[in-house]
Amino acid sequence: MPDTSAEPSRRAAVIGAGGRVGRAVTAALLRDSWDVVAVVRDPERHDLPPHPRLHVTRGDAQRPDGLAPALATVEAAVLAVTPFTAPPDSFDGFDPDYYVTIVTGLAAHWPAPHRRLVAVGLAATLRLDTGELVMDDPELFPPFLRPFALAHARQADALRDTGLEWAMLVPPSGFGLAPPAGPGRSLVREPVTRRQATAGLSHADYADAVAGELGAPTLHGGRAAVVPPPVDDLPMLAG
Ligand SMILES: NC(=O)c1ccc[n+]([C@@H]2O[C@H](COP(=O)([O-])OP(=O)(O)OC[C@H]3O[C@@H](n4cnc5c(N)ncnc54)[C@H](OP(=O)(O)O)[C@@H]3O)[C@@H](O)[C@H]2O)c1
Repeated sequence: MPDTSAEPSRRAAVIGAGGRVGRAVTAALLRDSWDVVAVVRDPERHDLPPHPRLHVTRGDAQRPDGLAPALATVEAAVLAVTPFTAPPDSFDGFDPDYYVTIVTGLAAHWPAPHRRLVAVGLAATLRLDTGELVMDDPELFPPFLRPFALAHARQADALRDTGLEWAMLVPPSGFGLAPPAGPGRSLVREPVTRRQATAGLSHADYADAVAGELGAPTLHGGRAAVVPPPVDDLPMLAG
């Protein structure tokens, strides 16, 4: 469909565009008139539907020097990669700095004047209004997955030191388990309630929140949970 917008397109990279979250974010950004550079490890294997503003490029997030030419063309990026599509049998050999390496590498190899990064978070890292983290409650998060949760948590700490204009949007633990609810989602600062941390949220609704944070940023150097309606009565950052 031709783009009838009078505004010049903005350009964003989606790193991990072939994954569940990456595909939904790519679709939301294309809908919002972004040019999207879809970074995938194997362009032959992705199944992203063709689109005139979609540019698929090969890249490995753990080798961000190779991403520099693509990053130089974008003002924004979404980080949606995971080393585990399904829970692993073991964390032997897992690098706890998996995400730290990626975000510090992106910052070092992204030679653009405006560098807005939205990182996909993990529900296990959310702080509850009881003072606990979700990952501390074995009813909410399997303890054997803790190394992965800690690697995600380290990502936020590393982002604070990068100089990037970053935000982390944390989905609830029912991510991907609810049908799209449409408008009405909220970004909620921590601490969150147990109900908010465990809500169901579709990938499409989460992707809308990401597209919103790229198009009209409200979070500057911070994290928020993406919560579907209805939500508890907590301070909202955006509707
Ligand atoms: N409730 C929650 O909090 C929750 C639930 C699910 C996911 N998440 C988070 O959401 C994010 C995305 O997860 P997902 O469900 O979309 O996972 P997914 O479907 O497994 O997709 C992950 C994508 O990452 C890509 N990838 C992995 N390593 C990469 C690298 N080094 N360079 C470039 N691409 C790489 C994979 O590409 P290949 O095709 O090349 O393997 C794959 O397309 C992760 O941060 C995950 O932890 C959170």
